[in-house]
Amino acid sequence: MTACIVGWSHGKFGKLDGETSESLIVKAATEAIAHAGIEPKDVDVIYVGNMNGGFVRQEFHSSLALQAHPDLRFKPSTRVENACATGSAAIHMGLNSLAAGKARFVLVVGVEKMTELNSAAAGEVLIKASYVAEEANIEAGFAGIFGKITSAYFQRYGDKSDALARIAVKAHKNGARNPYAHFQKEFAYDFCRTPSDKNPFVAGPLKRTDCSPVTDGAAAVVLADVQTALGLKHAIAFRATEQVNDFLPMSKRDIIKFEGPALAWKRALASAKLDLLDLSFVETHDCFTSAELIEYEAMGLTAPGEGERAINEGWVERDGKLPINVSGGLKAKGHPVGATGVSMHVMSAMQLSGSAPAGMQLDAPKIAGVFNMGGAAVANYVSILEPLR
Ligand code: COA
Repeated sequence: MTACIVGWSHGKFGKLDGETSESLIVKAATEAIAHAGIEPKDVDVIYVGNMNGGFVRQEFHSSLALQAHPDLRFKPSTRVENACATGSAAIHMGLNSLAAGKARFVLVVGVEKMTELNSAAAGEVLIKASYVAEEANIEAGFAGIFGKITSAYFQRYGDKSDALARIAVKAHKNGARNPYAHFQKEFAYDFCRTPSDKNPFVAGPLKRTDCSPVTDGAAAVVLADVQTALGLKHAIAFRATEQVNDFLPMSKRDIIKFEGPALAWKRALASAKLDLLDLSFVETHDCFTSAELIEYEAMGLTAPGEGERAINEGWVERDGKLPINVSGGLKAKGHPVGATGVSMHVMSAMQLSGSAPAGMQLDAPKIAGVFNMGGAAVANYVSILEPLR
């Protein structure tokens, strides 16, 4: 254990008309510093996670965090990007700064303002996180990539549309308890399972309710070394962190195996000296319901091809043996790309400190697993978190 999350903030996710990436960054940074109980002048290093790629015209985001307070002027601040794992990538950069002795306090802000574009145009930006040379002409933007993965999975293991609909229902049931979520309403199983005008096919077997939405939002954490954290009010420690990158082209991989995510989980659990079921809950990267299904297998909850058991038998429900995405996940909470990894860490820190919103709080969770993924199982990050004391 070398570092802790000592403060955090999380704004409401959704279609945030009137907000800009700048206003979202400033609010998240201000609130996280205050929550940590430190002064802005105490921050040594800043990382801003933002994918952008054309969602907004403003590309250069690092120094926008300095607008949070005059005392942040002249601090080193860097924008970090690693597709949908941008938020975790920024946190990892912060952990590296602490490990290198370059900082006592690091501020990490994750932000994305996506809804200035309509869904089709946002899809054109998101497809840049594929291997453009071979995959960019697939229809329906990034959803098309997962449409293809889902079709390949169904071909090998059979049609799992029932399980995908159940995953969507679970996400929205949990999201309804999360005041920060983009969608805070439950969706019926029949609605998610049956194609309709309100739930059309988007890509391959994936319907609208199988997709995470296009969302605006920001979240932030303050990181500190363990020694420093001992003197602070909030201290959620990183028991293990792993990053595993795989080849970008899907043609170079067996894409339904999610080997990068599996290796990241295996290494993180080994480094934490834990079994998967020692975790109290997991926040996983359900950019599409089929991603969550395959991640059950990658994390080792079920054998390959049997992921549906985890949802069909209730293991991953709030009251199951391994609750997954009690925040509503990307599916219901929303997926503002650069903010997502930071959001997953904040949701976990809230749970572990007993300060999650009342309806969302689990009963005394002890250890959390976070899995954040950039691209189609390309940049894979796992964190194992537990309270320092
Ligand atoms: N799940 C459930 N409902 C959704 C939704 C989603 N993902 N996205 C939109 N809706 C709802 C809206 O709230 C709206 O409801 P209303 O009619 O009650 O107001 C309705 O569907 C239409 O919204 P709209 O934005 O016009 O839908 P759309 O068809 O343009 O977009 C998707 C839907 C699924 C195509 C879009 O959300 C998308 O592209 N998602 C994937 C994003 C992505 O690839 N992220 C990166 C992953 S790695």
